[in-house]
Amino acid sequence: MKIDNITNMHESHPFVRKQNQEFELMELPYSTQALEPQMSRETVELHHGKHQQTYVTNMNKFIAGSDYENMNLRDIVKNSYEKDRGVFNNAAQNLNHIIFWNGMSPDKVDMPPAVSEALESAFGSVDSAKEKFIDLGLKQFGSGWVWLVKKDGGLDIVNTPNGVNPIVWGQEPLLGADVWEHAYYVDFRNDRKTYLETFWDELANWDYVKLQLVQA
Ligand code: FE2
Repeated sequence: MKIDNITNMHESHPFVRKQNQEFELMELPYSTQALEPQMSRETVELHHGKHQQTYVTNMNKFIAGSDYENMNLRDIVKNSYEKDRGVFNNAAQNLNHIIFWNGMSPDKVDMPPAVSEALESAFGSVDSAKEKFIDLGLKQFGSGWVWLVKKDGGLDIVNTPNGVNPIVWGQEPLLGADVWEHAYYVDFRNDRKTYLETFWDELANWDYVKLQLVQA
């Protein structure tokens, strides 16, 4: 299963839960200050240690004693969508953040040809893809996400409200940027555009995207 590759790649916490154990907060694949100066230690500590931890804690409470208890995280997200709001919101947000953290790198990663060629083929140019990613991130009113996804054999860029992950629509996320204010307000205040540009230009882990592209 594609998502397991994140674990293999970064040795972060396995989010395919072992039976009869609760989900735990993933370990970050880098230190909390590693993304500075683009993303501060304060932001990462709050975002990972408080926000994501809350999703994990709430998800464990919601799935306790239910049919979801023995599912892996992806299946919980897919099965609870539009059925069990509490389960879905927290499980999806946990999955979203796992993708978010693994999609960034402390060291700038050059885009491998496999990724740039796929972007050129889908969007005309890498710059057009970036423009669309930022535009849809800005157009997501309120809280949500913007994603580069694999869809119908090609690539697309989509935004989602609140905690929705594109896997519920049969799309595989290759990269996701959190546009909830907690993701950028400490470092960028209300400037979501600069945050998204920084994410794409300086933080995105294109080697991770390549791995997802090949295996999605
Ligand atoms: Fe977040």
